[in-house]
Amino acid sequence: MTRLLVIGGGRMGAALLGGLVRSGWAPADECAVVERRPEIREVLRTRFPGVAVHEEPVPCDSVVLAVKPTDAAAACAQLARAPRARVLSVVAGVTIERLAGWLWPGTPIVRAMPNTPALLGTSASAIAGGPAASEQDLVWAESVLSSIGVVVRLPERLLDAATGLSGSGPAYVFLVAEALVEAGVLEGLDREVSRVLTVQTILGAARMLAESGESAEVLRAAVTSPGGTTAAALRVLESRAVRAAFLDAVSASTARSRTLGDGL
Ligand SMILES: NC(=O)c1ccc[n+]([C@@H]2O[C@H](COP(=O)([O-])OP(=O)(O)OC[C@H]3O[C@@H](n4cnc5c(N)ncnc54)[C@H](OP(=O)(O)O)[C@@H]3O)[C@@H](O)[C@H]2O)c1
Repeated sequence: MTRLLVIGGGRMGAALLGGLVRSGWAPADECAVVERRPEIREVLRTRFPGVAVHEEPVPCDSVVLAVKPTDAAAACAQLARAPRARVLSVVAGVTIERLAGWLWPGTPIVRAMPNTPALLGTSASAIAGGPAASEQDLVWAESVLSSIGVVVRLPERLLDAATGLSGSGPAYVFLVAEALVEAGVLEGLDREVSRVLTVQTILGAARMLAESGESAEVLRAAVTSPGGTTAAALRVLESRAVRAAFLDAVSASTARSRTLGDGL
């Protein structure tokens, strides 16, 4: 029997499959994907040799649900014809309670919020287990999502906060990058040079945060000499309330996430 069936072979489903196969989580022939679009099925067959690609769900042990929120009820209805060992849902805004109402009664459900760097194996995912999910189910979900990055456990009510922080987070960094490239151009740098310097600066700063063991605050203080260039720049950012803008931005995304499933 198929060990893991991914429903929806779009960006997130394919990123997960790629991570699972690459990391050796399971041999390709123990994973399968269900995708309703024929052209995407063809792409998946070429990209993941050995992974079975189906049009409809097949008998399987565990399931990863990776369809759009509006397709989740129909996909669950297809799955609800037989019991499944467990279901991991990456569908944004659809609660465990709602998923439980659509699936075979008593199915262990783990809900997750990954983010787009999943495509490169550097996702930040938060997971929450439903009432029927055991410690083993959570460990299993962590092992699946570890193949595309780091995973933290949260109570379900905090998944909206994770959406506001890490789910939407890449877009905040992209906005900062856009602004920095433009700023470099305004100061006379060639656009490509400005882009290269910006990207490497963000990459380097992220690696320092990840690898130095120091907090952001300590790292920032270390590059801010008294009365120097960085201090002059930071004074402008603080006077324009950039910090407060980030607090409000994460709050706005979190609030929007809470209402995402309304009307499904
Ligand atoms: N992309 C991200 O970075 C990201 C991050 C966090 C969470 N998520 C969540 O991940 C889920 C998937 O997102 P995505 O960006 O991968 O979407 P996507 O690219 O649209 O992929 C979903 C795929 O599943 C297909 N599909 C829909 N219902 C199906 C069914 N019943 N059986 C088989 N295939 C079906 C869709 O076909 P059609 O195109 O015909 O609908 C589409 O090809 C969403 O709920 C999203 O909230 C995504």
